[in-house]
Amino acid sequence: MSVLLLIGAVLLGAPAPPEELKDPGHFADLADEETRAKALFGEVAKVLLHPRCANCHPATPRPLQTDAQRPHIPWVVRGKDGEGAPGLTCDTCHGETNDLQQPGAPHWHLAPAEMAWVGKTAGGVCRQLKDPARNGGRTLEAVHRHLAEDPLEAYGWRAPKHLQPAPGSQKRLAALFRAWIEAGAHCPQ
Ligand code: HEC
Ligand code: HEC
Repeated sequence: MSVLLLIGAVLLGAPAPPEELKDPGHFADLADEETRAKALFGEVAKVLLHPRCANCHPATPRPLQTDAQRPHIPWVVRGKDGEGAPGLTCDTCHGETNDLQQPGAPHWHLAPAEMAWVGKTAGGVCRQLKDPARNGGRTLEAVHRHLAEDPLEAYGWRAPKHLQPAPGSQKRLAALFRAWIEAGAHCPQ
């Protein structure tokens, strides 16, 4: 039966079902703090590197689209402050909420080049998040606040129906990041 459902979903163009995101408690029996921190960040990175997040944190000036992470159609670029080129700014098409196939969230714009995640490993993203020259001068507490509260990020869990939502929930992501800070914020390789 589940195979039939899966085939049906593929034929209808439905996205893959949501991925699981483990609770911080899952890592509690790792007694060594450094080992625990690295494992916790590996779980955090499942969200950061997911298409719902990474498509807006690309390695090029052009955002990516869909679960297949194809380059954005039409061709749009980061432009000033990530808001797109004059005449084709992001808000020409992206509103404050989703509109059928079209994603939306308040002040939809592209992440700065130094916050690019596409093509990086979990360890690479981790070191970048801790680097004041690349993280917008945020302390880890400020990154945590961003993870817990940012409306652009919240979009990841309420994407249009044809896209797979980010794993878990924003609340669980914030809890994992908190547990990672408390375990010494060590980065995986
Ligand atoms: C001409 C209209 C248009 C403009 C302008 C536009 N977009 Fe898009 N964008 C779309 C549409 C339509 C989709 C949905 C594609 C799909 O999923 O099939 C999309 C999807 C995206 C996605 C993928 C979201 C996801 O969850 O995978 C990102 C990221 C994105 N746009 C960023 C931007 C940024 C940043 C700008 C400004 C620099 C911008 N877009 C400008 C129409 C536009
Ligand atoms: C529509 C585009 C967009 C989407 C989608 C998006 N982001 Fe971002 N993200 C941004 C922008 C723009 C910034 C820079 C904001 C700033 O510095 O104030 C940013 C910054 C961040 C930062 C701070 C990075 C640092 O180095 O300080 C984190 C963490 C983050 N995003 C997490 C996420 C997560 C997790 C998701 C998915 C659930 C996500 N983002 C989805 C646009 C996006």
